[in-house]
Amino acid sequence: MTSAPPPVVDAAAQAVMDLEREYLLQNYARYPLVLARGKGCHLWDLSGKRYLDLISGIGVNALGHAHPRLVKVIREQAGLLMHTSNLYYHKYQGPLAERLAKMSGLQRCFFANTGTEAVEGALKMLHAHGRAIDAEKYRVIALENSFHGRTFGALSITGQPKYRQDFEPLVPGAVFVPANDTGALEAAFNDQTAGLVLELIQGEGGINPLTPSYVAKARELADKYNALLVADETQCGVGRPGTYFAYQRSSPVILPDIMVTAKPLACGVPLGVIMANEKAAATIKPGMHGSTFGGGALACRVALEFCDILDELLPAIQRVGGYFHVELNELARKHGCVKEVRGFGLMLGMELDRPGKQVVIDAMAEGLLINCTHDTVLRMLPPYIITEREVDQGVKILGKLLAKVK
Ligand SMILES: Cc1ncc(COP(=O)(O)O)c(C=O)c1O
Repeated sequence: MTSAPPPVVDAAAQAVMDLEREYLLQNYARYPLVLARGKGCHLWDLSGKRYLDLISGIGVNALGHAHPRLVKVIREQAGLLMHTSNLYYHKYQGPLAERLAKMSGLQRCFFANTGTEAVEGALKMLHAHGRAIDAEKYRVIALENSFHGRTFGALSITGQPKYRQDFEPLVPGAVFVPANDTGALEAAFNDQTAGLVLELIQGEGGINPLTPSYVAKARELADKYNALLVADETQCGVGRPGTYFAYQRSSPVILPDIMVTAKPLACGVPLGVIMANEKAAATIKPGMHGSTFGGGALACRVALEFCDILDELLPAIQRVGGYFHVELNELARKHGCVKEVRGFGLMLGMELDRPGKQVVIDAMAEGLLINCTHDTVLRMLPPYIITEREVDQGVKILGKLLAKVK
């Protein structure tokens, strides 16, 4: 593949990168791009170069950048009350929990800060559920190729050895099965199974949707073995698939016992959430779980505003997402290096027959931000406010780059 010249790094950007190199843990393989500001679906770097943002902070900036309604409520709330801890009440947790209960079909809510923190809480619920029945009932079934976060519990059920191997031994009890294989799932269940954790659309693992029949089987087996079914909607939830949550795509809806989500919920203000039905919620008694920052006034107020806007945006997510999918399929038809296009709504992946990193770097040089996951999958998680015109701009650049792939 011929590659575009690497992005120009001017002295100001270099200074930012040099300082970080000296003082930050060197855990991130960042692209050499220093971002300064954003508006709508666009970002600008320090030198003033503009980028079309089709990755939105890995699915976080659901309303793009500097959305006027969010800016307004953030300004107002920052001047009133940002954080109280969970020692006291504030006005926004209750209404947001009620809103999320109506959206999700799950009655009870716990506020966390991130996806991985929400997953940790859900795992504690699974262990508490199992332990109340039998000390040996602590097995958690998870999927190969899954990603649930970086903390110990979340890592222990992340089905990708590359993330786990340096930290083992992890939390015991994880059992991995291949996605969409009902036979393997059935074989993995027994009376020691406390729960099962699924991403309805695997994100980091390469945009892999689970089939409705697989999810139905998972529900059936969880009920049969008195295990709790968890949907990790950190990446595929809160509007991104064109429904509030990915498990609502099937008809009839197959409800999990627990759902966790985070990324877009407060559009960049950290906020994670666990939603649970009464059975799962009953596993957590007073004092068993908590969070200092979780559910702060600022984050909850922003999330409430976002939920209002999301109701207006859902039809557009379906329409523009569908259009984007068709356009990507058209690229797949034209360019032999594309193996498959997958996803729903505004969660889309294009699998190449080779590593995709160079395409991502070349796209940056062309003013387009996408990401590559699972080595070969170009991942697109654009803001929900994206228009067909902006999709066209992104697809045009992608087409140009794919044409260069030899
Ligand atoms: C499905 C899923 N679960 C959990 C996480 C972890 O979320 P966070 O990075 O907010 O801790 C991610 C992050 O990408 C995710 O995609």
